[in-house]
Order: sequence, then C-alpha cells, then structure tokens
Amino acid sequence: MHKPTFMTLTRHILEGERMHPEATGELSALLHDLSLAAKVLSLEVNKAGLVDILGLTDQSNVHGETQKKLDIYAHDTLIRAMDHGGHLCVMASEEEEDIIHIPPHYKVGKYVLLFDPLDGSSNIDANISIGTIFSIYRRLSPEGTPGTLEDCLQPGDKQVAAGYIVYGSSTILVYSAGHGVHGFTLDPAFGEFILSHPDIRIPEKSNIYSINEGNYKYWHLGLKKYIKFLQDADNIRGEAYTARYIGSMVADIHRNMLYGGVYMYPSDIRSPNGKLRLMYECNPMAFIIEAAGGKATDGKQRILEIQPSSLHQRTPIFIGNASEVDKVHEFLETEILPD
Ligand code: AHG
Ligand code: MN
Ligand code: MN
Repeated sequence: MHKPTFMTLTRHILEGERMHPEATGELSALLHDLSLAAKVLSLEVNKAGLVDILGLTDQSNVHGETQKKLDIYAHDTLIRAMDHGGHLCVMASEEEEDIIHIPPHYKVGKYVLLFDPLDGSSNIDANISIGTIFSIYRRLSPEGTPGTLEDCLQPGDKQVAAGYIVYGSSTILVYSAGHGVHGFTLDPAFGEFILSHPDIRIPEKSNIYSINEGNYKYWHLGLKKYIKFLQDADNIRGEAYTARYIGSMVADIHRNMLYGGVYMYPSDIRSPNGKLRLMYECNPMAFIIEAAGGKATDGKQRILEIQPSSLHQRTPIFIGNASEVDKVHEFLETEILPD
C-alpha cells in the first residue's frame, strides 16, 4: 500500500532550503505567506457561485462591505497577505498600473513579487478552472530602501522562484525555486497543501496543441501552416494531434505540463505583441516550464531573455515540450515574421 508521506508545502520548502546553507529562510517565509493567500483565494473562488443565491451581488455583502469583482478581491487579498511579512520591497500586479509600495510602517525585505491575481477570470461564472500566477525576483536597489520600478523590470531569467495556483477540480499549487517543479494539492478537510506531484517533468512526446483558433484568419502564414501540419500529421507515437483550449492560460499550461503539449498565444496582424503579459503571465510560466524540461519563446527568442521595458508589456508566447516548440519555430522561420 502507498505509504502516506505528509509532505506539506511548508516542510518541503524548509527541507529544500536546508540543502542550501547560504539561504536565510526569507524565501521560505515568503512562499509560506503566498500559500496562505492561496488558501483564502481557493475558498473564495469555490464559493463564487453561491454569491447570487445568498443575495450578495448587490452593492454590499453581509458585513456591509462593497462586493468586489473576484479578480480585484484576489488582487487586494494578495497585497494584504504579502505587504507586512518583511520579505518584500515592492510588488506589481496585473490589476494595478503602477508598482505597489510596501507601507512605510512595515519592514522592507530583499525580494520583489509580481502577480496575476486571477488568470482566466472570464471563466469564473462558468465554473471553469482559473488560477493565480506569481513571480519572485531579488531586488537590485539597496537594502532597506523602498523598492523601485527597476527592481520589477528584470528579465525572467533573474527570477529566483515562480509558481501558480490552479483552482480546478481541486486546488493545486505548483512552484519552482529553480531546482525542479513541485505540485501540492490542497486538502480541503484540513487546509494543507500536500505534495502530490513531486519533480514534474513535461513529457517529451505530445499530441496536444492549445491555441485560440478563432483568430486563425489574423495569424501569420507560418503559424497557419504549422497548425495545418498538426491537423494532417500524426505525432511521434503515431497518434493524431488533438486541440485543447480552456481559455485560462495557467490551466492550459498546467495540463500541457502534465500531458505534454504546446500552448501558443501568438502575435497576429491585429495584435503585434500578442495578448499575454510578460511580467505576470509569460515569465513565471516560462520559468516553470523550463525547470520542468520544456521551452518557452516569443517565436524568436527565449521568453526569459526578453529585457522588459514596461510593467504591463505584452509578448507572443510559444510554450511547451521542447520538441514541439522547436517544431513551431521551424514553421515560423520559413515565413518572415514582422519585427
Ligand atoms: P486574465 O484573466 O488574467 O485577464 O487573462 C486572460 C488571458 C489568459 O488567461 C487566457 O489564456 C487568455 O487570456 C485567453 O484569451 P482569448 O480569450 O483571447 O483566447
Ligand atoms: Mn491572466
Ligand atoms: Mn488576471
């Protein structure tokens, strides 16, 4: 019989840190704070469907507080959970235009946190998986001072850790601090994240492609040819390819990481930079996919090597198992992509 391990997220992080004698424990504490926010958000996402029934959709809830959209609630919750731990010097969120300072009465630390509080938020009302994505950097500015925009605008390969939470058929938190990718499922009975997916490696062979094909007529020719190639071809195992697209990037990539597959949000003639955000979506997911043995590019270069110039900049993305990302590139390179 399978022996239960009771490897909680906190224990896993602490044991990982013990293998690095130089570690101060700050990153562990930071990840622990994030996991607490994830539990709060999981609870809130799971009762989203009850809001109408309980009559809370009007202006106020039972506490007399104004009811907020769930993505703004998630944004506020993450800030409240993270601003006072003493580990961060600055934050940035997809839901806020400027950087988020640590209030002056709290200690500032050496890390920088960027996040997409709720990814796939258009799926909330249909009970479809959504998630939270986070990205952690070490600060560049001097310790003890308030963090800056420059602290946030670092290329993705400077991330020290990244992760995501998917609120799906169960809630799972996946993170990497550079050494492997590990998944923890939230046990709803006793509220702990338990190691369920140790050392995730993306399968090298795949038969899944994920892209919004509704945009087909706007795509570049190379991409059209690639998708046509997949539809006509069998993969390495002799199986036909299959399309899977949830419309929540974090859930689409999580599935592809477990089963193998490529997720694409390309540039097209309407959107020269694609749709997804470099700092909140593409960098953290690229960090995790690479740590799981996969690849992530913008069609030309590694996502993690892009030098960001603004907090909310967008980038095209091709992300998944290495052989499939390489194959997309072969097709893209045969056609001239606009600069
Ligand atoms: P968000 O909910 O954080 O704004 O992100 C939405 C993103 C991403 O999650 C998803 O994969 C993508 O938008 C879907 O876009 P399309 O509807 O254009 O396919
Ligand atoms: Mn998003
Ligand atoms: Mn979002």
